[in-house]
This record gives sequence, structure tokens and C-alpha cells, in this order.
Amino acid sequence: MKKILCLNGPNLNRLGKREVDVYGTETYEALENLVVEWSGKLGITVECRQSNHEGVLIDSLHEAFDAGFAGVLMNPAALTHSSYSLRDAIASISPVPVVEVHISNIHARESFRHQSITAPVCIGQISGFGFDGYYLGLLALVRAIQCGEEKKR
Ligand code: DQA
Repeated sequence: MKKILCLNGPNLNRLGKREVDVYGTETYEALENLVVEWSGKLGITVECRQSNHEGVLIDSLHEAFDAGFAGVLMNPAALTHSSYSLRDAIASISPVPVVEVHISNIHARESFRHQSITAPVCIGQISGFGFDGYYLGLLALVRAIQCGEEKKR
């Protein structure tokens, strides 16, 4: 079974308590439970990780490559808008596909959120669909992994 890493960045552990008008009242734990449930339906396995530390997220990306994960679904949170080292880490694990996901619509918020440093090295970005964006991201990864396998044949 294909293994996907679901990686979540700073402050996402505060879901349900932080800015509930933007991110809703559901907790991070509820999000992880949904991601695991959706993975089962899509026939993949998922490992969820969350860290408030840039270096830990970078190490997780490297580990995903070394451990043979088929893809990464990542919400880099605020590091999306600031982190060149995270961008380089994503680029460094190519050809492992990475999908960027955001709960809120970053393009409809403050201007500093409109730019993503990380999206150009991802295969795509999903933004604005709440927790459902994680389902869309998993689906996109499954399709991308299948396409990659067909091309190799
Ligand atoms: C976020 C959007 C980011 O701008 C913000 O810093 C977050 C969460 C989202 O999921 O909507 O922490 O990535």
C-alpha cells in the first residue's frame, strides 16, 4: 500500500482554539482522524505529523524520501510565506510529489499570505476548502502517483 506523509506546520496544533472564525472549531486531532479515514477510502496509508519547528519539518521531508514515501501532503502554515529552507527541502526530495494545502483561502486574506514561497516546488496548491482540502490533496497525490507509475512502464 502506498504511504503518504501528511505534514503540518506551526500553530496547526492550535486548530479549534485559534482564530475559529478563519479555521473553524474542529481540532487538529479531528483533522488527523479525517485524514486517516479518507486515506483508507483511497486505498493508501497515511502518517500524520505536526511540528512548530522549521528544522523538524525539513527533517521530516528528508525522512519521507529516505523511507520511500510515495508523496507528501503538506500544510506549511505561515512558513509558506517565509521559508526558503522549506522550499529547498521540498525541492530536495524530488521526484516525490508534494501537494500544498491550506484550510483558509490564502488569496482572500492579508496580502503577505498571497505569496507562497513553497508552492512553485509543489505539484499544486489547494486553498480555501477547509479540512476538505486535505481530501482533495490526497486525491491529487493518488492521481499523480498513478500517472508517475504509468509513465515509468
Ligand atoms: C494556513 C494559512 C497560513 O497563512 C497561516 O499562517 C496558517 C494556516 C491555512 O491552512 O489556511 O497557519 O496555512
